Amino acid sequence: MPLILLFGATGLVGSHLILALRDQYPKLPVTVYVRNTSIDNYLTTTAGVARVVHGDFSEHAKITALVEEHDIVINVGSSGDDSVTEAIMEGLKKRPAKSKPVLIHMSGTGNFLETRFDDGVHHSESKVWSDDSIEDMKAINAEMYQGGPAALVLTLNKTHPDIATYVVFPSAIFGESAGPIRSLGVIQQLMYQKAKELGFVPYVGDGTAIVNLIHVDAVTSFVLKILDLSQEPSAPQGSQYERTFFIGGPDIAWKEVSQAFAKAFHAKGIIASPDTRSVSLAEAGEPGIQGIMSREMLFVGPRAQRLGYKYTQPDLPEYVRNGGDVASL
Ligand SMILES: NC(=O)c1ccc[n+]([C@@H]2O[C@H](COP(=O)([O-])OP(=O)(O)OC[C@H]3O[C@@H](n4cnc5c(N)ncnc54)[C@H](OP(=O)(O)O)[C@@H]3O)[C@@H](O)[C@H]2O)c1
Repeated sequence: MPLILLFGATGLVGSHLILALRDQYPKLPVTVYVRNTSIDNYLTTTAGVARVVHGDFSEHAKITALVEEHDIVINVGSSGDDSVTEAIMEGLKKRPAKSKPVLIHMSGTGNFLETRFDDGVHHSESKVWSDDSIEDMKAINAEMYQGGPAALVLTLNKTHPDIATYVVFPSAIFGESAGPIRSLGVIQQLMYQKAKELGFVPYVGDGTAIVNLIHVDAVTSFVLKILDLSQEPSAPQGSQYERTFFIGGPDIAWKEVSQAFAKAFHAKGIIASPDTRSVSLAEAGEPGIQGIMSREMLFVGPRAQRLGYKYTQPDLPEYVRNGGDVASL
């Protein structure tokens, strides 16, 4: 029975994933590495976790030692910190040679934000990235939003071909965490902060720049698909660049996203008017936020689709209209 180690169990994705693992793989023992010490009872009793280990991502030796004890590592907690991924990789390298260790690493399509245009406008020349393009996958690098750890994972097979690495790149995730710890997606948090700060919900330029959002349930079910793939006798399948997957929902213009949030925040009395407004890059916020709001996120995921990925969840405006949680109150 393979032992699973999960990072990020209290987060938006991780909180759903532990429940999905409990329901669909009740016999697989899951260890979670969490810094929160207040929900051990929930984790072991309700979520059916076999072992809770407390620790912070800064405790690298502890992470390495724990990884060494497990067959499958799922990291949905740290996508932007090289040192955490390095600690995980150190542990995987110490696994017995024939144990076929698995690493499922969650990164994001934020890596693939358009570099040439930051005007909030849709450009037909914007690059469309593909998970089926080895060239695109080889272009992942540390300069990208969460590119450092993903690039590190993609180098692991050069020296350790037996380690089955899988990198999942979801677009901007929305939804609500499961379990006792509240967590919303980055766009939900960002829109709420901006509404509170500016008194309205902004978009950059004419708001036609394309963004992509994915409901957390679509992410969770795809990670389970990858888990299945990792346990097939053929694993690791192909090269590391053929084990990368883009998943998302429908493409949507930023202005439409802003309008959906504005209506919901207005209905809750958070802002005075449901009208959205165009802002300059400087008004959008610090450079990271500017990039998210002004640069297009264009991608296709034929590799994920071949594995059966199909988006069936509500899109963001529908989620908001249906009363989905939007505000960090
Ligand atoms: N949300 C998105 O739009 C999006 C899109 C693409 C990729 N991603 C990436 O996918 C992963 C899952 O996303 P998410 O939205 O579920 O993230 P999230 O809700 O922010 O959850 C992050 C998890 O990591 C844990 N964590 C953070 N810092 C830690 C530390 N120093 N020590 C120990 N644990 C720590 C958190 O624990 P606490 O509960 O203790 O904070 C939480 O369990 C993340 O790596 C994220 O960067 C997210």
